[in-house]
Amino acid sequence: MATLEDAVPAGDAAHDGLADPRRRDYLQIGAVAFAGVGVGVVALPLINQMSPSADVLALSTTELDISAIQPGQSIKATFRKQPLFVRNLTPKEIAEADATPVSDLRDPQTLEERTKEGKKNWLITLGVCTHLGCVPLGAGEGENKGPFGGYFCPCHGSAYDTAGRIRTGPAPTNLHVPDYAFTSDTVVTVG
Ligand code: FES
Repeated sequence: MATLEDAVPAGDAAHDGLADPRRRDYLQIGAVAFAGVGVGVVALPLINQMSPSADVLALSTTELDISAIQPGQSIKATFRKQPLFVRNLTPKEIAEADATPVSDLRDPQTLEERTKEGKKNWLITLGVCTHLGCVPLGAGEGENKGPFGGYFCPCHGSAYDTAGRIRTGPAPTNLHVPDYAFTSDTVVTVG
């Protein structure tokens, strides 16, 4: 009785298609693509383990003791890996911010809207220029505060006022005010 082996000689390249170069290429490409998917599947969990997930990062908060910051002083802290400026405004700096007509501003906001009720002297912003992300000067002792007495970005000359609002230069918006709350008169939780 005829068997399959009789009908199809073993190693008959012409029959099993391996003689056809197009089919060989197809098989090789298929194998490479499969290996590529395998590497991706193995690598993803390793990468995920190395960096905190977006939701963990989103939930992280920073607690700051602001009791030592005198009027006219600032500190630079870090919030979710970004610089954070905490500034204790003097009455003069508050008056300057309040005297600026909101209609003159590129990103109209009052100092009141950028601070907490009854805590107008505490200006808390990210220390990240809204143009291309440089860290502005003005929070450190003796640093150039720019022509509006707030912060000055040395990268392309954006100047922010004492409320952290953009006044001149290429930055499109005010320094970002993150979510925060006073948990006591001297402790702020950011995030
Ligand atoms: Fe600040 Fe360009 S990054 S002005």
